Amino acid sequence: MKKLLIFNWKMAPQSLSEAKRLLTNNLQPTTNNKNVEVIVCPPFIYLSGLSSVVGRRSSVKLGAQDVFYKNQGVYTGEISAKMLKNLGVEYVIIGHSERRKYLNETDEMINKKILAGLKAGLKVILCVGEPTRGRKYKAESIKRAKNYVKKQLEKDLKGILSLVVGRKSLVGNLAIAYEPVWAIGGNHSDTPQDALEMIKYIKQVLSIKYQALGIRALYGGSVSSKNIGDFLKHPEIDGALVGHASLKPKEVETIIKTVGKL
Ligand code: PGA
Repeated sequence: MKKLLIFNWKMAPQSLSEAKRLLTNNLQPTTNNKNVEVIVCPPFIYLSGLSSVVGRRSSVKLGAQDVFYKNQGVYTGEISAKMLKNLGVEYVIIGHSERRKYLNETDEMINKKILAGLKAGLKVILCVGEPTRGRKYKAESIKRAKNYVKKQLEKDLKGILSLVVGRKSLVGNLAIAYEPVWAIGGNHSDTPQDALEMIKYIKQVLSIKYQALGIRALYGGSVSSKNIGDFLKHPEIDGALVGHASLKPKEVETIIKTVGKL
């Protein structure tokens, strides 16, 4: 199966022309690269301008960084799943830790957003991850992290996995990105071994609780050209969510090429 690379540009760059330049850099290394699916998630404001660059048959797809949970109505400033879909956007990131932290997004809101996204036919990347990890008692802190992530999955996916599993076509439309919050930002990634353990655990929780076999799980948190191979060489890790490195053309090129060769 193809590895998924989600490039999360967050609140950058500062102009559409810069965004177009960045996107063009993403397109080139994906040509003839059958093993990678690249999804670029720019700020909402650039999606329209970039959709003409990407085109329907491109190997690079567009994703949004968020979506609102109502289809229509008087919700100033919000964007519906259908609006994204109508623009040709295929993916949406939901529940990113920065939104949970700075915008006070709750698990209940995230749950509704996932439902709205899936119903509109978008592919959803749900972000989960523990806020801190103690360094001293490793086994104990990993156990605590697993419990934290399990609770997030239970709340965020409440009532959703039955829909996904019930309609087999939707299984491929949901992916979980394990992003330990302490590892985000570029300085300190998780170790590939610990990330692998968590990803196996996430898949196990999903399959035991919901028979949701086949849902993809990705790693995110300080992924770069230097460490991407160590994470994605494991068949259980289906892809990566890349933040700051996705804004550096040289990094992007090396990341895509490295993953293409795995
Ligand atoms: P990072 O961001 O790669 O800069 O750590 C990842 C993310 O927040 O999705």
